[in-house]
Amino acid sequence: MLFDSHTHLDAEQFDHDRELVIKRACLNGISYMLNPGADLSSSVKAVELAEAHDFIFAAVGVHPHDADQLDTEMLSMIEHLAKKSVVKAIGEIGLDYYRNLSPKDVQIYWFREQLRLAKRLNLPVIIHDRDANDDVLRILKEEKSFETGVLMHCYSGSRELAEQYVKLGAMISLAGPVTYKNARKSVEVAEVVPISHLMIETDAPYLTPEPNRGKRNEPMYVRSTCERLATIKGISFEEMAAVTMANAKRFFKII
Ligand code: NI
Repeated sequence: MLFDSHTHLDAEQFDHDRELVIKRACLNGISYMLNPGADLSSSVKAVELAEAHDFIFAAVGVHPHDADQLDTEMLSMIEHLAKKSVVKAIGEIGLDYYRNLSPKDVQIYWFREQLRLAKRLNLPVIIHDRDANDDVLRILKEEKSFETGVLMHCYSGSRELAEQYVKLGAMISLAGPVTYKNARKSVEVAEVVPISHLMIETDAPYLTPEPNRGKRNEPMYVRSTCERLATIKGISFEEMAAVTMANAKRFFKII
């Protein structure tokens, strides 16, 4: 019984076999999945998928890559979507200074606006942070986002930063890279984050865990990440699955 807390089932890579992928996930013990949005159209698709399957939930939001497409009208459409009962978070939102596909100041402006939206609706946030550690942490603190819940998705920062996030009450979600041979940094993070603050995800169709690295990623492969984390933590697979399931349900307020 696993919870894939971040999977892009709406992605075009699944256009030819989406329902089969979902069925395979169910047959392999993935009992819940959360599909975050990356722009308005993927947020709409995420909500549609969640409304069609009672074990899929959605998050809505605009990724920093597409921040320059955002305007007040689009934000109000995101807000309208966010009020639906299948929507459990605002995301994925954040800052990406690695690819800088939208200008920095534009990314920051709409990151703040979406954090404020989440606070207004009392929803947690799913954060994408790439090479923007200092600004992301500072802005999350300034916007008091830790009060309503912060999930650091596909966490790739340092062990020290992970410890700071845990102190602030945030959840740390690890993906396929923790299974890679050169994953020293992710392994260190997994070692220091208490299991009460750990979540697992695929980020499918990207970042496929070993031993399927190289193939398209899909929710059923979250099992490999769970196995790796159980080994690092020295607990059974079943216990790691149960704890990450309970953490995700608590974070997304799923009863
Ligand atoms: Ni993602």
